Amino acid sequence: MTARMIMKLRVASARPTTPEVLHLCLVHPQRPELPAWTPGAHVDLRLPDGRVRQYSLCGDPADRTRYEIAVKREEAGRGGSAWAHRNLLPGAVAHVSAPRNNFPLVDAAREHILIGGGIGVTPLVAMARQLAAQGRSFVLHDCAPSPARAPLLDELRAICGERLRGWFSAGGRRFDPAAIGPPRDGAHVYACGPQRLLDAVRASLGAAGWPDAQVHSEVFQATLDENFKPEPFDARIASTGAVLHVPADRSLLQVLREHGLATASSCELGVCGTCTCGYRDGVVIHRDVVLPVASRQDRMTPCVSRARVGVTLDL
Ligand code: FES
Repeated sequence: MTARMIMKLRVASARPTTPEVLHLCLVHPQRPELPAWTPGAHVDLRLPDGRVRQYSLCGDPADRTRYEIAVKREEAGRGGSAWAHRNLLPGAVAHVSAPRNNFPLVDAAREHILIGGGIGVTPLVAMARQLAAQGRSFVLHDCAPSPARAPLLDELRAICGERLRGWFSAGGRRFDPAAIGPPRDGAHVYACGPQRLLDAVRASLGAAGWPDAQVHSEVFQATLDENFKPEPFDARIASTGAVLHVPADRSLLQVLREHGLATASSCELGVCGTCTCGYRDGVVIHRDVVLPVASRQDRMTPCVSRARVGVTLDL
């Protein structure tokens, strides 16, 4: 588990891009350049009470002088976005991690189909910027209630031109994933947005015969099964042989922390991948949405995932 560097960045500008979404530009107060990133990357924003929220970078990956993020005020959320809207005004200091990318573009792809729902369009803005700059083939489907409530729409129009398809439900235009058509060699689909949009895209493309490896998605909300009944289990630490008991009402991450074994975490919802660690044996109940299937044989996310009876951790 690697800790992520936290930087104190200054809010250079904060302007509404829709009535609910604030578009922030962050710069380093002393350094001319920030750590490099690639489209699809996100940063962690650390709140004063220690909580962490993830935001996709939506600026230009070629511009190392600034990070841009868009923060939607979630009335039903856990308070992080409301805090950001109240406090991240020009001149304020934001505690921000170095970027991490769990949602990269496929370099070898010949055609890119980007699908964004609401605030989920933010990583796709950075993807579109790079694809347009490189003269590569892409189209961006932007789904929102109306143009006025579509984040960063002016930027998208300037970047994409006629490659932008707006789907605004208030105007009766709802996105239908069937419009993507049959699978094509070298074509990759990237979807980010509400779970129901991602489910619809995956179901439709799956039925049309698109291979899973050509369909990529990212969610920033946990989709944990509310009916899941956690059971206690034991975690053995491979390096010391110590056996730690994980009660039903505590996460493996909490128990590791209590024993000084894990500090790096971020979302604690199974969506960011920060807490990932290796394991050697045991039947792991994977409850995250971030680990690729191929990694689940020997990696797990202790913030949400558990084990049946016992597991040996590569710690
Ligand atoms: S802390 Fe984010 S997946 Fe565990």
